[in-house]
Amino acid sequence: MSYLHILFDVTDGIAVITFNRPKALNALNSALLEELTTVLTAVAADEAIRVLILTGHGDKAFVAGADINEIAACNALTAKMFARKGQQTINQLQALPIPVVAAVNGYALGGGSEMALACDFIYASENAMFGLPEINLGIIPGFGGTQRLPRAVGAGRAKEMIFTGAMISAAEAMALGLVNTVVPQQELMGAVMKTARIMASKGKVSLRAAKEAINRGADVDLNTGCQMEADAFALCVASEDAAEGTSAFLEKRKPVFGGTRNS
Ligand code: CAA
Repeated sequence: MSYLHILFDVTDGIAVITFNRPKALNALNSALLEELTTVLTAVAADEAIRVLILTGHGDKAFVAGADINEIAACNALTAKMFARKGQQTINQLQALPIPVVAAVNGYALGGGSEMALACDFIYASENAMFGLPEINLGIIPGFGGTQRLPRAVGAGRAKEMIFTGAMISAAEAMALGLVNTVVPQQELMGAVMKTARIMASKGKVSLRAAKEAINRGADVDLNTGCQMEADAFALCVASEDAAEGTSAFLEKRKPVFGGTRNS
């Protein structure tokens, strides 16, 4: 299936979604969000896809935010619908059971930062810029930024960024713990692919369990989180991947994980 505002490619179990509205610096309009919902549903249903990467077309922007033309035309009701649509799509992204990496190749502003924050982790090019500049438009983040940014960097840092609308560089984002790795732009996809290939070679059941334990654990107390971890651990131990992983270790060979759910 081909899309108007998104490029979608799957090679060796690694899917890449490229936001592709270069004339608007890949800004998120309703049509793009609709396409993203469709492609994320397809990714979730495809057992052969083991890792997803998000990036932006061109060398200037990952995503420069929600589409300001569309926001300017909204009334209170349609603005709420637009925010909910963006939130639902980004929640759908966060809920994917496979690792999702944001390859931030330029501006990640407003909805772009909000999208990247919902990925499991972020690699950035040296020219990447992050920010929630909505305050400069007389509005606030609407795709989850007031919720995910404080969870990622702490309330004080998040409030400073949201109240001033200031952008931060990739290096500053890395110092805040928002970004895992910063590389020259021409090396970004290579670096992300290298990590993606490592993750794609692991057991799908254990990747899913680890992601779920971390994500769900972030919203509960430590004891409840540890109980969830024990449940997820037990499910993993009962999987074909665990049988393969432990046998391979004992037989001194490399494991080959099939990606099946249970034994
Ligand atoms: N929506 C719509 N169009 C956008 C856009 C956006 N978010 N960001 C950039 N564009 C368009 C520009 O209007 C321009 O179009 P034209 O060529 O037709 O004039 C084109 O992309 C190129 O942009 P610039 O000429 O502005 O490029 P620049 O290099 O001078 O500046 C920039 C780059 C600093 C990223 C600047 O474009 C900018 O500030 N963009 C807006 C960033 C922003 O405010 N994002 C938050 C949006 S609101 C939001 O996201 C709310 C939410 O949480 C749901």
